[in-house]
Amino acid sequence: MTNSSSFLKTLVASALLFAGAASAAGGGVEMESAQVDISNKGSLQRGAALYMNYCSACHSLGYQRYSRMAEDIGLSEAQVTENLMFGDAKFGETINTGMDAKKAEAWFGKAPPDLSLIARRKAEGADWVYNYLKSFYVDESRPMGWNNAVFPGASMPHVLWELQGSQHVLTEPKHEGGHCPKGEANGQCITGFSIPEHKKGSLSAEEYDQVARDLTTFLAYVGEPAASKRESIGVWAVLFLALFTLLAYFLKQEYWRDVH
Ligand code: HEC
Repeated sequence: MTNSSSFLKTLVASALLFAGAASAAGGGVEMESAQVDISNKGSLQRGAALYMNYCSACHSLGYQRYSRMAEDIGLSEAQVTENLMFGDAKFGETINTGMDAKKAEAWFGKAPPDLSLIARRKAEGADWVYNYLKSFYVDESRPMGWNNAVFPGASMPHVLWELQGSQHVLTEPKHEGGHCPKGEANGQCITGFSIPEHKKGSLSAEEYDQVARDLTTFLAYVGEPAASKRESIGVWAVLFLALFTLLAYFLKQEYWRDVH
C-alpha cells in the first residue's frame, strides 16, 4: 500500500468518526430533515417576516444588518423599513432586540440568546432548529407552561402556538436501559404529539411545517450570509474553467497542427 492511500484511509476514517461524534451529541433524539434551501428567495422572505414578527422581540441577530439582509433576500429598503423594522431601528444597523437582557433573564430564567449562529452551532445544524420549533408541548410543571421534546427544560414559551395549536405529548413506558428515539418526558419515551380539538391552531400541520421550514431557512441564511453569494460565484468559476479548458484545447490543436 502506498503512503498516499493509507493517508486517504486515515482521513476517511477520521471524517466518519467525527460524523459519528456529531450525531451522538444530539442526545439521540431523531431529527426530521428541515429540507432548507437558502437560495429560495420566497422562503427567505417569509422566514424574515416571521422572524421579525415572532422572534425579534426576544432574540437579536447581532451579525446581521437590515441592509445586508434586504440585499441578500431580494427586498427593497422601503419594503424592509416599512414592514420588517420596529421601534427606532435604522436600516444600516444590526438586528437587535428591544428586550433588556437582565429583565429577560428575570422573566424567563434565562436570557434569550443571539440567534446569528444557531443554525451552525448545534451538531444537527438547521435540522435542530426545525425540530425544536415543531416540538413544543404543554407542560404545566414548567414555569412558562411549555416544554420541548428536543430541548427538555427549555425556558422559551411556544410563541407560535396560535399557528400550530397546543400539542400534548404522547408517551409510553421506557424499557430498562432503553433509548427513546423521540425524546423523553417525565421519565417516559415520547411516541408523538396530539392536539386536542379545542386547542387547534390556525394552520394545518403541513402549513405549520412550512412556517418552521421558512424560519429555519432564514436562520440558516443568517448563519452564513456569504453562502448564497458563494454559490453563485461557484457557478461562474466552473463556467470560466470550462471555457478556459475549451480554449486551451483549441490552442493546442492550433500549435500542433504544423508538427504532425
Ligand atoms: C418571549 C421571548 C422569546 C421569544 C418571542 C422567542 N424566544 Fe427563543 N428563546 C427564548 C429563551 C428565554 C430561550 C432560552 C431557552 C433556554 O436556554 O432554556 C430561547 C431559546 C431559543 C433557541 C435555542 C437557543 C440555544 O442557544 O439553545 C432557539 C433556536 C430559539 N429560541 C428560536 C426562536 C425562534 C425561531 C423564535 C421565533 C419564532 C423565538 N425563539 C422566539 C425566548 C424567546
